Amino acid sequence: MAKLMKIDHLGIAVPDLTVASATYEVLTGAPASHVEEVEDQKVRVAFFQVGDSNLELLEATDPSSPIARFLSKHPRGGLHHVCVEVEDIEATLASYREAGVRLIDEEPRLGAHNKRVAFIHPASTGGVLLELSEAMRER
Ligand code: CO
Repeated sequence: MAKLMKIDHLGIAVPDLTVASATYEVLTGAPASHVEEVEDQKVRVAFFQVGDSNLELLEATDPSSPIARFLSKHPRGGLHHVCVEVEDIEATLASYREAGVRLIDEEPRLGAHNKRVAFIHPASTGGVLLELSEAMRER
């Protein structure tokens, strides 16, 4: 069964991560807590903490990146996805599959912070790209 824990982050596509990071340092009152390149998604990301949650700024590192495609339609950038933390990503995907939810990722892949993530198609979420991110487990 799906068990959603919290909004982990909101993903915001930006044309220039350095420029946007300076803006969000002002908006959140603190520098990025984490900056990373995610090879799999061809993006560079910066996280800004907002209480228990985060804002994730995403910049494309390659024209084939999903963020580059998003920016071709929204040149100024904009809200790209909502990410919820789930207790068990495999169980969540299985329950969604069974319910006929349209999945982008059939299997989890590696996202920022080395967390296991999977994307759900906007066709099944009221038009919002939804990212599932599995809570860090003690291994
Ligand atoms: Co994200």
